[in-house]
Amino acid sequence: MRSQFVTKTGVIAATVGSAVGLGNIWRFPYEAGVHGGGAFLILYIVCVFLIGVPVLLAEFVMGRASRANGVGAYRRLAPRTPMRACAYMGILASLMILSFYSVVAGWIIEYLWQSIVDLFYHVTQAEYERQFDSFIANPWRSLGWTVGFLLINFLVLRRGVEKGIERISNLLMPLLFLLLIIFCVNSLMQPKAMEGVKFLFKPDFSQLSPSVVIGAMGQAFFSLSLGLTCMMTYASYFSDGTRLTRSASITAILDSLVAILAGLVIFPAVFSYGFEAAEGPKLVFEVLPAVFAKMPGGAYWAVAFFALLFFASLTSTISMSEISIAYFVEERKMKRTAASGLNTGICMVFGVLCAMSFGVLSDFTICGFTIFNLFDYVSSNILLPLGGIAISLTAGWIIDRNILWDQLTNDGHIRSTWVRPIRFCMRFVAPIAITIVFIYGLL
Ligand code: PHE
Repeated sequence: MRSQFVTKTGVIAATVGSAVGLGNIWRFPYEAGVHGGGAFLILYIVCVFLIGVPVLLAEFVMGRASRANGVGAYRRLAPRTPMRACAYMGILASLMILSFYSVVAGWIIEYLWQSIVDLFYHVTQAEYERQFDSFIANPWRSLGWTVGFLLINFLVLRRGVEKGIERISNLLMPLLFLLLIIFCVNSLMQPKAMEGVKFLFKPDFSQLSPSVVIGAMGQAFFSLSLGLTCMMTYASYFSDGTRLTRSASITAILDSLVAILAGLVIFPAVFSYGFEAAEGPKLVFEVLPAVFAKMPGGAYWAVAFFALLFFASLTSTISMSEISIAYFVEERKMKRTAASGLNTGICMVFGVLCAMSFGVLSDFTICGFTIFNLFDYVSSNILLPLGGIAISLTAGWIIDRNILWDQLTNDGHIRSTWVRPIRFCMRFVAPIAITIVFIYGLL
């Protein structure tokens, strides 16, 4: 029998555990910084609720109705349609994301280590920017942590879905949330905090461009772990009593809250300490040490924060690995350990290439992107939204409407007020909105 999440909080903890991770704390601030702040935030929130929630529900419905991995779900629910190709695209996206994600998770381990040995917080600002640059360019340290992180991920994966994840995330997510609130209060008390708050919340629509809109949609997909059958695979482990609509809204709300909180930690500090908001992927890693250096007992806060962030990353990478592992085990009849090993092996090769993008391969670009940036851009901004179109169209048009109704109302046990509007969003709103963003992006 397939395993299931045992408790109601287990389901929320697992989906929130998948959603909340580096996407919120590292990627959101850097994307918002690059794309001008306020206008990006609004578009991101609109995408989360207008596109993200319907696609999330579509994944939940398909996952629980089929009780199978992504490829299996399409095969059972949409047989003889070409849609199944999108599940393979999801597997590809998951491997690409895991590869570059592990590099950043490796940076987290380095920062955790630095905070523990307390080397970090006695130097000047220019100094830790330089330290960070030399660290990510250093092949042994940066590559070592990337590989190390993937090995830890592998060890957790071998234990199966419910035990590892449920326990870890149940305990640690609320703590991470609490720490972010404390840091946020601290950042807001800094001298030029209000400039940062304005940057984040005051939309300047003159900044609007196709890249901002595409970026905001990509961020919504990435942050909610959407479009690559990750949430579908997780939903295949939900129990029959799980309320899908409620789980989806809680996940979307908590996930956006964490991203906004991270923005409120980072941007006031960016303006107070004179960093560059549009710094890119390195932003958070340069700003956070400055934040901790100015806090009383900074090194202790840093240890706690990076440790929690490490676990938050791990619950996300476990969920993205589960996509290919469930596929290898169920469709290719591999043993779980072998499947986890294959997933880890592929990502080690690509992860190492991504890590080298900040060092020896920094001049190697494809269409102007380094390997790291290419993996990030192509997966989040192209593959996930395409997967989102396929998923919402499948749930909205192809699968039997009774299946949708049964899943959303738990066989009639809960009220069905939302079923029609949700179905409408799956059939029209989400796919059309994604397509419009793509077309606008091509202009
Ligand atoms: N949502 C995760 C985060 O924000 C990343 C992720 C993407 C996880 C895709 C699973 C699948 O960190």
